[in-house]
Amino acid sequence: MKALVLSGGSGLRLRPFSHSMPKQLLPIANKPVIDHVLENIRDIGITDIGVVVGGQAPEIITALGDGSRWGTRLTYLHQKKPLGLAHCLLQAREFLGDDDFVVYLGDNMLLDGISDLASDFSADRPAAHVVLHKVSDPTTFGVAELGPDGEVSRLVEKPSYPRSNLALIGVYFFTPAIHEAVRAIGPSPRGELEITDAVQWLLDRGIRVTATEYTGYWKDVGRVEDVLECNRRVLDGLSPAVAGEVDDMSVIRGPVVIEPGARITRSVIEGPVIVGASAVLTDSHVGPHVSIGRGCILRDARLDGSMALDGAVITGVRGLHHSLIGRSARVGPSGGVTQQHRLVVGDHCQVEVAV
Ligand code: G1P
Repeated sequence: MKALVLSGGSGLRLRPFSHSMPKQLLPIANKPVIDHVLENIRDIGITDIGVVVGGQAPEIITALGDGSRWGTRLTYLHQKKPLGLAHCLLQAREFLGDDDFVVYLGDNMLLDGISDLASDFSADRPAAHVVLHKVSDPTTFGVAELGPDGEVSRLVEKPSYPRSNLALIGVYFFTPAIHEAVRAIGPSPRGELEITDAVQWLLDRGIRVTATEYTGYWKDVGRVEDVLECNRRVLDGLSPAVAGEVDDMSVIRGPVVIEPGARITRSVIEGPVIVGASAVLTDSHVGPHVSIGRGCILRDARLDGSMALDGAVITGVRGLHHSLIGRSARVGPSGGVTQQHRLVVGDHCQVEVAV
């Protein structure tokens, strides 16, 4: 069995972050989303993985390399334009050969992994096996309708009037039967070749499609709020490990990871919190639910429920709450007094807030 990880796409909903980094590389608890994806795939014993890359290919290739870090072999497949998920399958036709495969969207996080889903597919090898999750607003997803036997009867991409609350999440299992379907379908109203339509094409021909309802935590990290929420959830499962330096005047409470080379001075760290390698925190109060990237500098800062990406500098700002600070962004005081700030700052921006 092979895997196809889709990491093209424009990430419009994640601007400004997606201007300078593919959304698949956004770190969740200091580890890129796509690393979590590759670990899930590796954990079901797949080593041959195609990665479909688009306009931000160089960043993805630099970050993942040849895949040997996960004991896998990565083959990069270039998609010139983001013409849809089913179009990615067309581009990957030669790589996929006659193998069964799993498609995993590189911006989806499934905290329970995909082992149970893979077993359900392998048990009877339907042409397609999709994964469903109950959501409150199905209009922004592909939506499945199930027949009385629990098998899929109909799939609709982003319906205005959804007939179920079961969204398709970004993991699909296929036999080679899907290739004919992706060749046969035409573009959707948004101008893309949709996987949803390809699977519906199978259903229209009476070909069996099954589904598993995934009940664990799932997030398509398409928007800043999703990234922050997902980060909080992953931090909740953090195993504490303090490798960096913590001085006697600092207090560490709850599950906290301090990576090697990080320095904590006269600060309170209230877990769950992860502090990246070589970060320097002084006179600060951090947590709960905060991740601090590698090489960040925090001085006289107070933040909770937030993320600072690699190299961010935060000084003299208290009450940062549910904020996402981009790589090498600088946040500092400008004068005055306020109680709370909420910032969504893109990479390399500089923000001055009243204190
Ligand atoms: C895509 C699929 C949609 C699915 C979603 C899951 O949507 O088209 O069916 O529900 O991923 O993340 P997109 O992110 O391309 O809008």
